[in-house]
Amino acid sequence: MEARSMGTVLDRVDGREKVTGRAAYAVEHDGALDQAPLHGWLLTSTTAKGRVLRVDASDALAHPEVVAILDHTNAPRLADTEDHELAVLQDDRIGFRGQIVALVLAETIEAAREGARLVRVHEEVAGAEVRLEGAETYTPEAANGGFETDTDQGDLDTAWASAPVRLKHTYATPPEFNNPMEPHAATALWRDGSLTLWDSTQAVHGVASTLAPMLGIDRDRVRVIAPYIGGGFGCKGLPHGPEMAVALAARWADGRPVKLAVTRQQMFGLTGYRTRTVSHLSIGAEPDGRIVALEHAAVGQSSKVKEFVEQTAVPARMMYAAPHRRTSHRVAALDVAVPSWMRAPGEMPGMFALEVAMDELAEATGIDPIELRERNEPEVDPETGNPFNNRRLVECLQRGAEIFGWEGRPTEPRATLEGEWWVGTGVASATYPSSFFPGNAARIVALDDDRYAVSIGAVDIGTGSRTVLVQIAADALGVDPAAVDLAIADTDLPKATVAGGSSGTNSWGTAITQTAQQFRADHGEHPDPGVETTTTAEAYPDTAGHALHSFGAVFAETRVHRLTGEIRVPRLLGVYSVGRVINPMTARSQLLGGLTMGLSAALFEEGYQDPRFGHVVTQDLASYHVASHADVGDLRVEWLDDVDELSTPMGSRGIGEIGIVGTAAAILNAASHATGVRVRDLPATADVFL
Ligand code: MOS
Repeated sequence: MEARSMGTVLDRVDGREKVTGRAAYAVEHDGALDQAPLHGWLLTSTTAKGRVLRVDASDALAHPEVVAILDHTNAPRLADTEDHELAVLQDDRIGFRGQIVALVLAETIEAAREGARLVRVHEEVAGAEVRLEGAETYTPEAANGGFETDTDQGDLDTAWASAPVRLKHTYATPPEFNNPMEPHAATALWRDGSLTLWDSTQAVHGVASTLAPMLGIDRDRVRVIAPYIGGGFGCKGLPHGPEMAVALAARWADGRPVKLAVTRQQMFGLTGYRTRTVSHLSIGAEPDGRIVALEHAAVGQSSKVKEFVEQTAVPARMMYAAPHRRTSHRVAALDVAVPSWMRAPGEMPGMFALEVAMDELAEATGIDPIELRERNEPEVDPETGNPFNNRRLVECLQRGAEIFGWEGRPTEPRATLEGEWWVGTGVASATYPSSFFPGNAARIVALDDDRYAVSIGAVDIGTGSRTVLVQIAADALGVDPAAVDLAIADTDLPKATVAGGSSGTNSWGTAITQTAQQFRADHGEHPDPGVETTTTAEAYPDTAGHALHSFGAVFAETRVHRLTGEIRVPRLLGVYSVGRVINPMTARSQLLGGLTMGLSAALFEEGYQDPRFGHVVTQDLASYHVASHADVGDLRVEWLDDVDELSTPMGSRGIGEIGIVGTAAAILNAASHATGVRVRDLPATADVFL
């Protein structure tokens, strides 16, 4: 299709609403309510494993503004309690410290909070197993995303045994927590047997279709609305316990709305997180750097409450050529909070391990890290044998080298001391699959004056998807973006899949484009107002037989203070091949955000676990450190001119996640170049350089 608006900057269509404070977030929908809402406050368990013996609510109920305390004895019953994360307040079992054990309902949020302090929860404590180290692991059925747990190609053991260059190391990433600006929050209204949920979610249709059967009501009796969302990073991709808690509270309050906002501290236990990962990586190579044997054995942590398996070893299956290759995933199920999606699950920890290992191979063979990656470019997807569609990794590396000024870099580590600072540069590759989820539908209605109403139940979690969908609709209809009235974020609108897996714009944009094409075929260039077309995009296009991925190259300059070990990243550059960039402004923001989150992972982010109870003690943004402005230096994003019409009719691929991939590796490869100290565990704190 012809790109007219696509490829140009369009200011965010919701920018004015947001900066003037008129955009209503999940607990700001009072205008839609005909009664003052009740306010909820969650009470959580203090033991990691055991039972709720008794919830003593008498003091709390004596508070004049406390209305009710719901616990497992009096909360409305669910029709289906199979999912132990979502089946909150249904029985007395405690599966992790921080689990929802009661919910206070009060006239004000202050009274709800005070009420929560007055409730006494008596718990029976059982022995809990909370540490990954030393825990028994098992082979799950599949990893997140439905990936096979194990792959085995060629004869790894023999190839490894005879490889002239052999590297075998363990790389680890700590528990990391998504923590968008807006915590999980919702307003719920149960009326006439139907639930309306104003939710902060990455998937309105997903929440409705998950909650409805558990609540024992028809899917069309749950409406989920999410016009504005203050970020997600994956933690709002699937519904979690608090959404069900507020739905149950609304059912109990029958007719009166209920608001519930998860506290920042509770975000560290109730809404998903990235688990600790441990990657055992072995690379056997020829002296010229060509890999002959590659093994990535990933060990992760899951929860006994619900399984989640980070697909850490998946990128090692397609990234580089190697005739002999083995990958595996093992997890230990512990009495801890339920992990879930966090920006680039799998690729983020997996590519950290692989890309540091590649740097180690470059050092061991004396080959430039960029040259080494070029020598290991596969001709086809090593896993499937399918041709890559638009694999431009080498161009990203070369373009990056040019912009960054890679030439003339000292080969040896610890070669540059400027004042009190060791200075080094590093590089790493990035990759992310191009995902298209089928089943998205869109509706287009002709309005007066050659305007069009376009609707789809997609969401904009803050990334700018509302704006790029307007651009896509405008180009698909051949009109100006100003002629498009876009409605999103409501399950009353046509079905849309999750804003996750960097699939949103791909999947929703395809549905809008196909619907626009059908609309034009049905109604012509100047349709009568009121005519409409709705279609569902089942599959686009027949991509079977191709490996669809985006690629990138991240370059970092890292400085380490020779006396204090302080680590600084004055320069960070990412060069990407991501298909057509629909809106250069919002795209740049996504990639800059990804790089910043990668920097944050490299230097700061780490959830410290209490070894007795398994919860994270750094459960706020004072102690769980994330990169702040002062930590971010010259941050730059470039992309190659690309149009990938095999991936989507727009020619685009997803961009939400690739920015975090490889970034921590580039930074720590640069730290190693600066100091000679190899860091294989995230994050890199000052002490490791001393
Ligand atoms: Mo992303 S972690 O798939 O929302």
